[in-house]
Amino acid sequence: MLSVLKAAEKLKNGHLVIFPTETVYGLGALASNNEAVKMIFQLKGRPQHNPLILHVSKDYPLKKLVQHIPKKAKILMKRFWPGPLTLCFKKSDEVSNMITAGLSTVCIRCPSHPIARQLLKKLGEPIAAPSANISGKPSSTTLSDAKRQFKKKKGVFFLEGGISPLGLESTIVDVSGKKIRLLRPGSVSVQDLEKVIKESIQQKSHRKITSPGQLLEHYAPKGKLTVIQGNRKKRRRWIQRHIRKRKTILGVIGEPFLLREYFTLCSRDNHLKTYGKNLYRFLNWCDERQAKEIFLELPKTSHPLLPTLLNRLQKASSGNIVMLQ
Ligand code: TXA
Ligand code: MG
Repeated sequence: MLSVLKAAEKLKNGHLVIFPTETVYGLGALASNNEAVKMIFQLKGRPQHNPLILHVSKDYPLKKLVQHIPKKAKILMKRFWPGPLTLCFKKSDEVSNMITAGLSTVCIRCPSHPIARQLLKKLGEPIAAPSANISGKPSSTTLSDAKRQFKKKKGVFFLEGGISPLGLESTIVDVSGKKIRLLRPGSVSVQDLEKVIKESIQQKSHRKITSPGQLLEHYAPKGKLTVIQGNRKKRRRWIQRHIRKRKTILGVIGEPFLLREYFTLCSRDNHLKTYGKNLYRFLNWCDERQAKEIFLELPKTSHPLLPTLLNRLQKASSGNIVMLQ
């Protein structure tokens, strides 16, 4: 098994390392090594126009990477770093165009996972890393899920760190303009952010794509995913009526029902944190079983994580969400 020290050496020598963070596993390269960064795009099958996030340790001098740190960004960093919040700044010349896909901004995050922190500290430099999944596939929240997707790829090393405790990617907020804008909902809810900066955050307009990665089909398992959202009784009645195949896999909340293979995402409708933690594990589990059809329960609730879950599930199911009134 790779040690943190060895992982830092591998990165320094231009290799890629899959490493744990509190959100999902990352596929990392030394940000200053263009060849290694290029390999990320190749191995993931990621389009060149989709920029990468930089990961830094808390004491890294951000001024090297950005032109200016706005006051509101400082407030957010003080409250949420290290943690699952990514901020988007005007970039400095030091950040390569390959990382930002030619954009004038750069997204930066300071992870809180102890192993990610140790790795960044040992390295002393930023790591460029997208989520550790083949482009379009579900993100990885365990090393074995990442390994399954990348085991055939050469030049990738694996750093173990257990199950990602949050399980959903970071929230991305653009602090480079006058108004603070949400680029991707994530583990930190908009309500939490607004409480701290005491102003409303602009949510993404549907007409203008602001984050290139949001264009693509994403997080999708191989089988056909249907998400059934509503209260428990209605969801289950719908599933009972529509389930045909013996092999349909169920993602359930609470006790299982019907004689089908199932995975429990959480025990109650309002336990959305646990649901979020288990979501990618579930989608990867379905792929491992080569599921052809998947029915997944989703509660109807005002929980602050619901918009993030809906964002991921819209993409994972290509919009195949049945909303029961
Ligand atoms: O939690 C996370 O953020 C994980 C862990 C590994 O840190 N990383 C992650 O990276 O989710 P990725 O590459 O899968 O998603 C990053 C998103 C993409 O949608 C990308 O388009 C967007 O961030 N992004 C990156 N740089 C950007 C920029 N300068 N402007 C707008 N969007 C940007
Ligand atoms: Mg991703």
